[in-house]
Amino acid sequence: MSDRIANAQLRGKVMTAEEAAQFVNHGDKVGISGFTGAGYPKALPTAIAERAKEAHAKGDEYMIDLFTGASTAPDCDGVLAEADALRFRTPYQSDPILRKKINEGITLYADYHLSESGLYVEQGFFGQMNVAIVEAVRIKEDGSIVPSSSVGNNVEYLDNAEKIIIEVNSWQSENLEGMHDIYRINRLPNRQPIPITAPEQRIGSTAIDIDLNKVVAVVETNAPDRNAPFAPVDEVSKQIAGHFLDFLEGEVAAGRLSYDGYIMQSGVGNVPNAVMAGLLDSKFENIKAYTEVIQDGMVDLIDAGKMTVASATSFSLSPEYAEKMNENAHKYRESIILRPQQISNHPEVVRRLGLIATNGLIEADIYGNVNSTNVSGSRMMNGVGGSADFTRNGFVSSFITPSVAKGGAISAIVPFASHIDHTEQDVKVIITEYGYADLRGLAPRQRVEKIIALAHPDYRPLLEEYYDRALKIAQEKSIMQTPHDLATAFSFHQRFLETGSMK
Ligand code: COA
Repeated sequence: MSDRIANAQLRGKVMTAEEAAQFVNHGDKVGISGFTGAGYPKALPTAIAERAKEAHAKGDEYMIDLFTGASTAPDCDGVLAEADALRFRTPYQSDPILRKKINEGITLYADYHLSESGLYVEQGFFGQMNVAIVEAVRIKEDGSIVPSSSVGNNVEYLDNAEKIIIEVNSWQSENLEGMHDIYRINRLPNRQPIPITAPEQRIGSTAIDIDLNKVVAVVETNAPDRNAPFAPVDEVSKQIAGHFLDFLEGEVAAGRLSYDGYIMQSGVGNVPNAVMAGLLDSKFENIKAYTEVIQDGMVDLIDAGKMTVASATSFSLSPEYAEKMNENAHKYRESIILRPQQISNHPEVVRRLGLIATNGLIEADIYGNVNSTNVSGSRMMNGVGGSADFTRNGFVSSFITPSVAKGGAISAIVPFASHIDHTEQDVKVIITEYGYADLRGLAPRQRVEKIIALAHPDYRPLLEEYYDRALKIAQEKSIMQTPHDLATAFSFHQRFLETGSMK
């Protein structure tokens, strides 16, 4: 047995994943660790999926409701979805098999802000949580657990579930201990301000104390986190990164930002990761991150001495960088803090720190409303994640995207967003490879020309044609605030559904 389990009572609970899976019953609400492929339980999901398959083969029902920090990995969401073991899933996912099951209607998916999902559990919005399954680096003498490469909603699941299963993963570096900052927000009505006024502040403890009597099983694993590698930085991403830097330079020129101490939030995805590569060669120094995930680009900034602190709830590293983190965790824990996602994404702290938020999008419309989640208004991609936590509350909120997707068949700029996650009030800057549109201080009609200029040249005439038509109708009917031609507002999407292209 691993010497990573230092508590005698919990040493007595060690068993196999198959034995532990017997504690997870059909209909259970199961809250697990895991955030973008980091820190999710490595053994129980497969064991639960096997239980589901066996039950289904006998004609019995077996499905669970699964709650996480955010997305997980093929050996978690993937195997469970494949086995049709997921009835309900929240708050964020990105596994291709699970996405298919959601869009086929097999799994119900509720897309919630990541900062709120833990609160919903505490307040019982989902009903009683039955089982918490959390990956740990080690169990301390007093039974408290040191989380691994993500914190997510671990505290809320451990506090609120009836049973606890701990996976102790010896692949994760023990030197991650000291990186976490566990802080519980008092329950209503006893809230106090969260005492963070700078990203580098630690306000809590390095381990999570739990009710030992709730622990039904401890399972030992030795398996890596599974994040997909980032796409190589291509020409379009380089151009987007260049325009993003121009926008930052503009903020410096306007006296709203300094080269010293820029606080960033950067969303998940290939394009935000590429933007960080652009910052490596910039004039910005002492960059700080108060963000949700730490991606490869941030590790490069830390290594280059450009970034002095990164506060997040999880890693989201490529396999190569995850190895590097494991080997050098003792060094990185001086500049990296992993917090519960209620804290990493908390609106109060985000607003106070005055950070610049940068996230990806599916589409933006000509007035600046942004869709981050639903392709053509109804097919779920991943979920809103923490993008709205940061976009609504950031000092300046930007969105970065290539102007087209799927080889040019889809325009990222459309007449009317087919689903709206971020409203025109929240979206301050949009950036594509064709430049950036600063929407601050502009009324809707003043934004249109700037936003159409960001579209791919193939789509600009179609967008201009749409706007001219909308304007004509609006003038005739005296409804000039946000002119639309409702009969053709979704013509881009309609064409895509009918022909496979928005052109
Ligand atoms: N229609 C259909 N598919 C689209 C699309 C659109 N309008 N825009 C992008 N996509 C697809 C791309 O084709 C690509 O698909 P692939 O994986 O099959 O190649 C995929 O979405 C990713 O697009 P990419 O251009 O590489 O950007 P990204 O990795 O930055 O992801 C989002 C873009 C919107 C999917 C991603 O940012 C996201 O999930 N956002 C919501 C959550 C979020 O912002 N979290 C951050 C919180 S801190």
